[in-house]
Amino acid sequence: MGAVVALRESGDGYIAAARGRRRRFARRIGDGAAVFAAAPEKEKSRGVFYPYRFDGYLYYLSAFAEPESALVLVAEKGKLRREILFCRGRDASREQWDGERFGPLRARREFGIREAEEISELPKAIKQIAREHKTVWHIPRGGESAAEKQLHSTMAQRSARGGGYAIAELRDASAVLDEMRAVKDKSEIFRMREAARLTCAGHLAAMRARPMTREWHIEAELIAEFKRGGGDCAFLPIVAAGENACTLHYAENNSPVRRGQLVVIDAGCEWRGYAADVSRTFPVSGVFSPAQRAVYEVVLAAQKRAIAAIKPGARMSAMENAALRALCEGLRKLGLCSGTVADIIARKSYRCFYPHRAGHFLGLDVHDVGAEKLPGENKARRLRAGMVVTAEPGLYIPGDSDIPKELRRIGIRIEDDVLVTARGREVLTDAAPKSAAAVEKWMRG
Ligand code: GLY
Ligand code: MN
Ligand code: MN
Repeated sequence: MGAVVALRESGDGYIAAARGRRRRFARRIGDGAAVFAAAPEKEKSRGVFYPYRFDGYLYYLSAFAEPESALVLVAEKGKLRREILFCRGRDASREQWDGERFGPLRARREFGIREAEEISELPKAIKQIAREHKTVWHIPRGGESAAEKQLHSTMAQRSARGGGYAIAELRDASAVLDEMRAVKDKSEIFRMREAARLTCAGHLAAMRARPMTREWHIEAELIAEFKRGGGDCAFLPIVAAGENACTLHYAENNSPVRRGQLVVIDAGCEWRGYAADVSRTFPVSGVFSPAQRAVYEVVLAAQKRAIAAIKPGARMSAMENAALRALCEGLRKLGLCSGTVADIIARKSYRCFYPHRAGHFLGLDVHDVGAEKLPGENKARRLRAGMVVTAEPGLYIPGDSDIPKELRRIGIRIEDDVLVTARGREVLTDAAPKSAAAVEKWMRG
């Protein structure tokens, strides 16, 4: 069974925004054609598939979420000359198994794309594009899709025939699109707010899970809240009790949960394609021990400083540095690192307690595109209004014998999603309690 349900649009302006994005892409490339391929379906076990996840670029430009689809754009002097959506044809017997398909006719109408054809027509279209255009833009990472294979085999035929086609070059469209995707428009921010809201609801419910004797009891509450709001998990939730929190990508979620332990939840809801990504840490008993609280306050202070460094014009590295300095000051105070903060940073002696980064871009992908340095620049990129980044410092203390006993195996991460605004920032996920006092208050019920 191919698990496929078309993601339906419901009047949040996303389809109109996608149309604007296609025009903007054409303006940026000037002349040439582009082929955007759907992500392949992924089999989980024999004949059983993972829920289908569209390719972010194709979805961004089309709002179309069915598998076995592709979008072809043709630009001429910066104008969008043609836009063709390729998708599966209607097929009553397949639809009886896998669910309704749009089919080209309805897809064209509902997604406002000028032309639509059956996906079986794509090879012909690619050959024509290859003959007519000097430049064909694509996303090289989509190498596994049928459309990408077609593009490459057409290129190979061209070289074998010594230039039967006009394609001079295949160019990577991600350089253009990542810049566009990095700054979210209104319809995207609308979706991200809802993802953030449901994620906070999930965290609130999870912190009060009853029973709470296994990590999966907590995970179940998260998923229930996401689903209740029409969302799903943006990634496998991490629910890590006690020292499991020191495994950064722990996602087994099957260990016992004991009084006296802390639990780290790192989970995010995906809503209409857009992700949230939030971490909170709470004491199972409802009250932090003095040692747990001391470490918690260090991470919280670092996270607040990271958030304060997020503003238009600031570099991503400013946030990273703010978090790192605060963590190193804390590691000194906790007696876990010695020397000055500058020494700790220079010697990287913080690394065994804090091995990851302080944040990443967030959007259609959890680790969203656009965060990379700009071509030709060797500094971290500057933030602009409309970007969304996470702020997520953490400390993970090993169980080594030279570490004070009460601090051993404590793992803490605190993560929020932050929208860069014209004047500063807005934390999208502050409905989930964060100060130690707010966490304890919520746990008391
Ligand atoms: N949950 C993955 C991350 O925080 O980056
Ligand atoms: Mn996370
Ligand atoms: Mn994250």
